[in-house]
Amino acid sequence: MFWSTLATTAILAHRAAAQAANGGDFIRFGCSQLVVERADPLVTPGMAPSPHMHQIVGGNSFNITMSPKSLDPVTDSSCTSCTFSEDFSNYWTASVYFKSPENGSYKRVPQMANGRLDGGKLEQDGGLTVYYMRAFSGTNKKTTQMKPGFRMMTGDPSLRKKGKVTGICHRCMGNGEGGAPCDSRDTSEFPAKICPNGIRATIIFPSCWDGVNLDSPDHMSHVTYSGGTGLAGDKCPSTHPVRIPQVMYEIMYDTKQFNKAEYFKNGKQPFVYSFGDATGHGQHGDYLFGWKDNALQRGMDALGTNQCASESCPALKSQPGKDAIACTKPQQVPEDVGNGWLTELPGGAAVTYA
Ligand SMILES: *[C@@H]1O[C@H](CO)[C@@H](O)[C@H](O)[C@H]1NC(C)=O
Ligand SMILES: *[C@@H]1O[C@H](CO)[C@@H](O)[C@H](O)[C@H]1NC(C)=O
Repeated sequence: MFWSTLATTAILAHRAAAQAANGGDFIRFGCSQLVVERADPLVTPGMAPSPHMHQIVGGNSFNITMSPKSLDPVTDSSCTSCTFSEDFSNYWTASVYFKSPENGSYKRVPQMANGRLDGGKLEQDGGLTVYYMRAFSGTNKKTTQMKPGFRMMTGDPSLRKKGKVTGICHRCMGNGEGGAPCDSRDTSEFPAKICPNGIRATIIFPSCWDGVNLDSPDHMSHVTYSGGTGLAGDKCPSTHPVRIPQVMYEIMYDTKQFNKAEYFKNGKQPFVYSFGDATGHGQHGDYLFGWKDNALQRGMDALGTNQCASESCPALKSQPGKDAIACTKPQQVPEDVGNGWLTELPGGAAVTYA
């Protein structure tokens, strides 16, 4: 009995993993860069420029203030940089900089498309990959779309050592890559070795919502992880009973031009986040919901059918990559984001190593 139960559990787990691999449990899509600028309508609304550099993707109604009372991403956007064209949400994360060990100058590490999507032929300019996932385990696959105005952040920018953060990690592409997101070969910190194909950061957001608050003072306590793990099952606690689609970002940092052996000696590595974190532990992500009507719900409900799996989701409207790339907006406070050499991080954050 015991062994047969175990065997059944193993088979079910295997089946769940296989389904995940063939995309039965999520949609994913590329979003090109809308703008790279110092703006953060979630953490520092109204502040221009905000303290550190972000790359922002999604609807072009993105602004320094995005109160749900005065701005509706769906009606106020005229385009989106994401391939699913009913999605005017905004997704943003901190930029990564190379800090020259020779002279202390900074240069921005470009972001690149996730080559696995669309058979590697995805047309995408920078940006990131967005996932919306339903339960990876359990039997209840139902998720409930977030409400207009919903927003959240995850991660802790103040961390400089491994902390109690769920679902945030770095993968060394082309040098000991793992499998599932944030598996044991991925690291909370920046990899201290050369990553020939770049560094991928994964940011997995909570999957359970209190069902009431569109935001909270820390931008986190209105949502929670189910069961304390990253990739979630179908159960949510009574405090946060609504199982929302679980959002995950994959950001590919194109480190190739900086992959020199002398930068990676004695456990050192040369990269630093725009907010001064030279460890990587402080990585975090920001999210602002902006899907048209019930489009996200339609996509999630179609998962597991031939109408929706992974990047192929005919249940949703999509646009060619070139149209997503064409959706950009100027910086609100123009400045060099670090395409050339800078003497300090934009905003002047002090670099900390511990
Ligand atoms: C930002 O919002 C303000 C106030 O609504 C508006 O005047 C301005 O045009 C917006 N800026 C951008 C770049 O969309
Ligand atoms: C600083 O060092 C980098 C190499 O690490 C070099 O490419 C760059 O030209 C140097 N910049 C200045 C201002 O000297």
